[in-house]
Amino acid sequence: TATLRLAPSILSADFARLGEEVRDIDAAGADWIHIDVMDGHYVPNLTIGPGVVKALRPHSEKPFDVHLMITPVDPFIEAFAKAGADYITAHPEAGPHFHRTVQAIKSAGAKAGAALNPSTDPSAIDYVLDELDLVLVMSVNPGFGGQSFITSQLRKIEYLKTLITKRGLDTIVEVDGGVTPQTARDCERAGADVLVAGTAAFTGGRDCYADNLKALRGG
Ligand code: DX5
Ligand code: ZN
Repeated sequence: TATLRLAPSILSADFARLGEEVRDIDAAGADWIHIDVMDGHYVPNLTIGPGVVKALRPHSEKPFDVHLMITPVDPFIEAFAKAGADYITAHPEAGPHFHRTVQAIKSAGAKAGAALNPSTDPSAIDYVLDELDLVLVMSVNPGFGGQSFITSQLRKIEYLKTLITKRGLDTIVEVDGGVTPQTARDCERAGADVLVAGTAAFTGGRDCYADNLKALRGG
């Protein structure tokens, strides 16, 4: 399979200079740009809406990986797709009809992802897995950057990777939360294809970004 890809989360960037931060992390070697959307309702924090995604779009040609931690999800899908989201990932726990959400993401022209909270069993997506482009394993409870990696999620990564292979799918397995150069190696071994990193990517300011990403890839 392909090599490990990194999706730095701009949640840990300087919000007063987001465009510049996106350009700097792109130049430092980011594969995707991870954008955390929070509504103060599904998760206890507020962040970014489609207007900001649209404003950032000219600053990078890398795929925009938009992680929606909002409920309801469906009324906002079109706006994020139009704003330039390449991947739109939602939580099946955030609404009553996740299959409909997946269909809506795809008909809006984006790639569809499912994010699983630490307590959520992968069986929650068993019947939509074949239609997903990506599964996001949350290794922290969503809402904030800078939390510690929950190691029990390694088994979920392994399980999903095996299931995807067994079904002959090419669904991407992405991991989000508490990813450091140390936990990155465990995720990689467990079968992760893409790692999200907020704190570990943006720590130290722009002069450190290339080294931060290099360390996350394993040096
Ligand atoms: C948490 C977000 C993550 C977060 C990761 O709700 O989904 O993307 O930014 O931040 P770190 O890497 O600091 O745990
Ligand atoms: Zn995220």
